[in-house]
Amino acid sequence: MRVLTTIGEMADARQRWQERGGIGFVPTMGYLHAGHLSLAQRAHAESATTVASIFVNPAQFGPGEDLARYPRDLPRDLAQLESAGVEAVFVPTAEEMYPAGFSTYVVPEGTLAARLEAAARPGHFRGVATVVAKLFAIVRPTDAYFGQKDAQQVAVLRRMIADLNLPVRLRVLPTVREADGLAMSSRNAYLDRQQRTAAAVLFRALRAGRAAFDARAAGGPDAVCRAMAETVAEEPLAMLEYADVCDPDTFEPLEMLRAPALLALAARMGPARLIDNVLLRADGTWDLGTTAG
Ligand code: PAJ
Repeated sequence: MRVLTTIGEMADARQRWQERGGIGFVPTMGYLHAGHLSLAQRAHAESATTVASIFVNPAQFGPGEDLARYPRDLPRDLAQLESAGVEAVFVPTAEEMYPAGFSTYVVPEGTLAARLEAAARPGHFRGVATVVAKLFAIVRPTDAYFGQKDAQQVAVLRRMIADLNLPVRLRVLPTVREADGLAMSSRNAYLDRQQRTAAAVLFRALRAGRAAFDARAAGGPDAVCRAMAETVAEEPLAMLEYADVCDPDTFEPLEMLRAPALLALAARMGPARLIDNVLLRADGTWDLGTTAG
């Protein structure tokens, strides 16, 4: 497996990869877990060449967020990517991606860029869209793999690819969970033992929301949100930020219970801000994610 750190090295290597066939691409911020590796393994199974990136993107962190303490372990990440069958890893510095004079951003607009994560983290999706557009231009993948765990990121990037006519196929894979249902996240490393146990409440709340949805709760979307919020409220260590039922593409709130629908949650748990979701697909089946191992 090759580790490349400059855009010039990537350009040289890319030519040979393109001759071999499709390039599958897995962008990450590192500190990898089984969720990231599920993307790498799928990309490897489906592509002639698999490329991953590890870049903690300063542009997507707000002032006062966790950029400085974001967990890192490059040697372990590289070993894991190699065993997942990744051929090359792009690990640029911040200066390589944002040299002096950098001043052009991709700015998502509309409801999708205003509600939920966008409201909680101003500028976050501008940073995500900008870095992903740059990575697409550097790697030029045929397919790019993302996790349903970050449902709003997926919706923003799907919109960006369509709006800017980017020649890449978006592949979205289910959320990988721990045995107790907690969605895997690099940020779970911030949790102490007690908080880690308590964090399972997020998935319990989503299951309660799904049950209310499936029962077509009399109160409609509000009743589904209430079912989620009441479950989170049972856990004193969790502080709910939002519980929402929305369209998975536009993120408009639902006015009635119908498919497709996204049930999304964010909560503070001690030093960590955790997000999770479950998806009711258009065909009426649920995507609750998968359990690792
Ligand atoms: P990061 O949080 O490292 O996640 C990288 C990819 O792994 C994303 O597509 C994310 O949705 C996916 N992922 C994270 N946890 C997952 C889980 N439990 N199951 C399945 N997939 C999971 O998302 C980012 O980095 C950044 O915003 C990035 C896209 C790299 C741009 O900087």
